[in-house]
Amino acid sequence: MNGVILNTIEIIKKKREKEKLSVDEIKFLINNYAKGKIPDYQFSAFLMATYLNGMSVVETATLTEAMLHSGTIIELDSISGAKVDKHSTGGVGDKTSLILAPIVATAGVNVPMISGRGLGHTGGTLDKLESIPGFRTDVSLTQYKSIIKKCGMVLASQTKNIVPADKLMYALRDVTATVESIPLITGSIMSKKLAEGIDGLVLDIKTGSGAFMKELKDAKILAKSLINTAKAFDKNVIGIITDMNQPLGNNIGNWLEVVESVEALQGKEIPDLMTVTHKLAGAMIYLGGKASSINEGVEISEEIIKSGKAYDKFLEVVKLQKGDVSIIKNLSKYPKSKYTEEIIASKTGYLKEVDNYEIGMSALQLGAGRLTKEDIIEPKAGIIFNPKIGDKIKKGEIIATIFTDRKKEINSVITRIEKALKYSNKKVTKHKLIKTILR
Ligand code: URA
Repeated sequence: MNGVILNTIEIIKKKREKEKLSVDEIKFLINNYAKGKIPDYQFSAFLMATYLNGMSVVETATLTEAMLHSGTIIELDSISGAKVDKHSTGGVGDKTSLILAPIVATAGVNVPMISGRGLGHTGGTLDKLESIPGFRTDVSLTQYKSIIKKCGMVLASQTKNIVPADKLMYALRDVTATVESIPLITGSIMSKKLAEGIDGLVLDIKTGSGAFMKELKDAKILAKSLINTAKAFDKNVIGIITDMNQPLGNNIGNWLEVVESVEALQGKEIPDLMTVTHKLAGAMIYLGGKASSINEGVEISEEIIKSGKAYDKFLEVVKLQKGDVSIIKNLSKYPKSKYTEEIIASKTGYLKEVDNYEIGMSALQLGAGRLTKEDIIEPKAGIIFNPKIGDKIKKGEIIATIFTDRKKEINSVITRIEKALKYSNKKVTKHKLIKTILR
């Protein structure tokens, strides 16, 4: 143990002094942390040194590889057909995975998805799914394969056997202010995706006030880091940079996002959410060889929603992963939050700007996310946020509704959300949702 501690300190010191780490040093840190031989307090220092001083391309690739090899690399050769996944760099109200995975599986492309939990101010697919009573994301390798064989998709978590290093690092980054780091995001996303046994990957790189990369130029650097890593491992990849300057859709918070996803699967028109979802699904269908272009993939995706088949597929996967299908069929049966409060517009004007980080943090404060590793999520907590940038809001209109069991947070959250919005007397241009497609 002494040797481990000594070496760990030397490696942290090197990163602190902006020196490059060797392959052996990175592997040593990741392997020992994944095995529980390096304590959280020391690994936190390494994460912060990396956050502050970054990593070279080679160090990032080594980090990804070490994280990937902390567990099993899944082999899906026994499953026929293409295997394609999507991963987002994280946002507020970003629930596209819940909608697009059933669409793409219906189109005949397997989706072996391994996701993450809420990170920083953003929500996580696993927390959303686990708000469905009974739903299990911690499936064994055998179950993982058998669920894909049965319905063409699975929605799973990292486990003790599958990218355990990411499972541990992810939870630690979440509470040590070390999330917004290009090498750490790259290692986290790509280790999960490379462990899945996929042929192709679509990356949704978010930019704006609710993303980890606030500026487009930084989102492009992150996109390059992710795409280069995917290519180094021989994966077909498409990166799509999308807007995160306001919540995607209207619902923020775990169960609320399941509700909005189910409504979208049932064909409800939610323009911004479905524009992004169809684009990502279209790219996946294209990478999976079921369309000759992304645009054709988008058309297929739209048809599948209209047919109701994606909704049926979602019910199928909920059942296979032990979730309560009856509550999905009857959403109003879900328990209600103790407190519901409306936020009313105090003036008339065009919505010009949303500090989307503050909206995400407000949802966390209401109980939708974690501030420490031990925090327990309140699945019902969250916000329904009505307006979009460019909308005209009239005095007295409901801007948002908040749901929580935490009475003492209500007033400060209302003030927080009000402060996060800026208005203009003049008309405001709507935001472009899809910024760039990178190949
Ligand atoms: N999604 C992940 O899986 N990891 C990150 O670091 C950010 C988004």
